Amino acid sequence: MSLIIGLETSCDETSAAVVADGRTVLSNIISSQVDLHQRYGGVVPEIASRKHIENVMPVVHEALAAAGADLADVDAIGVTYGPGLVGALLVGVATAKALAFAAGKRLIGVNHLEGHVFANFLAAAELAPPLVALVVSGGHTSLVALADCNSFRLLGQTRDDAAGEAFDKVARVLRLPYPGGPQIERLAAQGDPAAIAFPRALSGTGCEFSFSGLKSAVLNYLNAARQKGEPVNEADVAASFQAAVVDVLVAKTMQAAKMAGIGRVVLAGGVAANSRLRSDMAAACAAAGMTLHYPPPVYCTDNAAMIACRAYYQHLAGDWAGLNLNAVPALRLGEKKY
Ligand code: KG4
Ligand code: ZN
Repeated sequence: MSLIIGLETSCDETSAAVVADGRTVLSNIISSQVDLHQRYGGVVPEIASRKHIENVMPVVHEALAAAGADLADVDAIGVTYGPGLVGALLVGVATAKALAFAAGKRLIGVNHLEGHVFANFLAAAELAPPLVALVVSGGHTSLVALADCNSFRLLGQTRDDAAGEAFDKVARVLRLPYPGGPQIERLAAQGDPAAIAFPRALSGTGCEFSFSGLKSAVLNYLNAARQKGEPVNEADVAASFQAAVVDVLVAKTMQAAKMAGIGRVVLAGGVAANSRLRSDMAAACAAAGMTLHYPPPVYCTDNAAMIACRAYYQHLAGDWAGLNLNAVPALRLGEKKY
């Protein structure tokens, strides 16, 4: 049996997890800082770094204890080295390097976005590439094809805002707390998705996305109504906005899977927790004779279990990092920088 400990500190969750043979999660400890950042309406990088420093070793100890393991028992240490906030990433990277050096263990640098894709493997024991992944998080919206566990081909990405960012910004103008995705989803459940015809940008043109126009359209709609003193049905706004995002994500993903000639689709990243995205994508995949996988919500948002899972497949491939591993804040999907 191969044991990997994963560390994740790229944004506002400090997480450590112990995973056996890449697929069996023995522990997954997540210390969220959401409450701290909520009053600023978003993540404050300096606060995030300071909190990671305080939390990281307790979280590592807790993950090992919950797994009934000792650092001496693990085969390798996997850590997110990008993309993310540089100060936040550095805490995880420095911790992992110190642990690897002290315990004489292999060090594995993990791409956070690849980790999100691999979260799917934690809940589906038989799942394996080839597959097409839609990665939708707070900072990224990408479509990627995996020929095998270590080859990623970018099919398309957003030209401007990420899908999660659009959810967060629209939530903010609706005066809902951060993070906005789950709040919009809750409000949308009481609204009519067909009430307002918000734009579906770049429909029909390849695998690229654009969400900044949609965000502006929602803002304009709200401002116009407020100026005229007309009442706004905020549930209808949330439902119509969510439908516009989901329609585009589903259409582009189906287009990408057909183009790549791959009949297996996975969802990844925080927005993959959205139930409308899950159900609409499931219907589209069923209609096209494709299979769909998505992780349970706890593995959609940031967590270290997905990092340990990704690290396991790098470990099998002998893809280890040296103690000169550094944080790479703008690391891209499929890119390796160490
Ligand atoms: O993957 P993640 O935890 O962190 C990043 O790597 O960015 O994604 C966070 C994003 C946030 O923008 C949040 O609003 C969004 O995922 N999100 C959702 C839902 N849950 C989280 N968006 C829509 N519906 C949800 N249920
Ligand atoms: Zn993430």
